[in-house]
Amino acid sequence: MHTPHNAHVKRLLAALIILFVIGFFAKQAFQPKSFGKYGHYRADAIMEEANRPMRLMTNPSCVKCHPYEAGHQMTGLHKTISCEFCHGAYADHIKDGKKIGTLPVKRNAEITTLCLRCHNRAIEARPKQVIKTVVMPDHLRAQKVDEKHSCNQCHYVHAPLKYINHSKKIMGLI
Ligand code: HEC
Ligand code: HEC
Ligand code: HEC
Ligand code: HEC
Repeated sequence: MHTPHNAHVKRLLAALIILFVIGFFAKQAFQPKSFGKYGHYRADAIMEEANRPMRLMTNPSCVKCHPYEAGHQMTGLHKTISCEFCHGAYADHIKDGKKIGTLPVKRNAEITTLCLRCHNRAIEARPKQVIKTVVMPDHLRAQKVDEKHSCNQCHYVHAPLKYINHSKKIMGLI
C-alpha cells in the first residue's frame, strides 16, 4: 500500500492533539480550586499555614507555673536562652492552660552534651565575644576535679554563674 510521505507528521499531530485534550481536562479535574488566585500557587495554602496551631511560646509563658526556675533564668546570664531550647515545645506540655504532657528533663551526662551544644570551643564558628566557650576536659582539669563531673555540678543550669559568684564572694575572691 502507498502511504503519503507526510503520514508520520499527521500521526504526530494527532498524538499531540489527544495529549493536549487529556491534559486540558486533567487540569480542570485535578487543579486545586484556589490555584492561581494570587500567583502560581494555591491561595488557600496561606490560611492553612497561618492557622496551624502554635507549638512554641516565649519564656514569659512558663513564668506563671514555674516561678522558681523562671525567676533565676530571667536574672542570670541565660536570660536570652529559650526555655524550650532545653526542654522542648510548650504544645507538648500545656493545652488550654492545663498540663497535658511531660517535657524531657536532661540529667547528668546528658546535661553536659546539652551545654556543649553552645559552649564548646570546638565549634569554631561561635564568636568568643558573643558566647564564652570552654575546652573539655581542660575546663574540668583547671578546676582540679574528676573529669566525670557534669556541668550542672558547678553551674546552676538556669543561672550559670549565680552560685559560683556567690561562693567567690563568701571566699573573698570578688
Ligand atoms: C540551658 C538549658 C536550660 C534552660 C534555658 C532552661 N532549663 Fe530548665 N532545666 C534544665 C536542666 C538541664 C534541668 C535539670 C536540672 C538538674 O537535674 O540539675 C532543668 C530543670 C528544670 C525544671 C525542674 C524539672 C525537674 O523535674 O527537675 C523545671 C520546672 C524547669 N527546668 C523549667 C524551666 C523553665 C520554665 C525555663 C525557662 C524560664 C527553663 N527551665 C530554662 C535546662 C534548662
Ligand atoms: C499551666 C501551668 C504550666 C505552664 C504554663 C508550664 N508548665 Fe511546666 N509543669 C507544670 C506542672 C503542673 C508540672 C508538673 C509539676 C511540677 O514539676 O512542678 C510541670 C513540669 C514541668 C517540667 C518537668 C517535667 C514534666 O513535664 O513534668 C518541665 C521541664 C517544665 N514543666 C517546663 C516548662 C516550660 C519550659 C514551660 C514553658 C514553655 C512550662 N513548663 C509551662 C505546669 C506548667
Ligand atoms: C542555646 C545555647 C546555650 C545553651 C544550651 C547553654 N548556654 Fe550557657 N550561655 C549561653 C549564652 C548566649 C550566654 C550569655 C553569653 C555569655 O556570657 O557567654 C551563656 C552564658 C553562660 C555562662 C556565663 C559565661 C560568662 O562568664 O559570661 C556559663 C558559665 C554558662 N552559660 C554555662 C552553661 C551551662 C553549664 C549550660 C548547660 C546547662 C549552658 N550554659 C547551656 C548559651 C547557652
Ligand atoms: C568543677 C566545677 C565546674 C564544672 C564541672 C564546670 N565548670 Fe564551667 N566554670 C567553673 C568556674 C569556677 C568558672 C568560672 C571561672 C572563673 O571565672 O574563675 C567556670 C566558667 C565557665 C564558663 C565561662 C568561661 C569564660 O571564658 O569566662 C563557661 C562557658 C563554662 N564554665 C561552661 C561550662 C560547661 C559547658 C561545663 C560542662 C561541660 C562546665 N562549665 C563545667 C566551674 C565548673
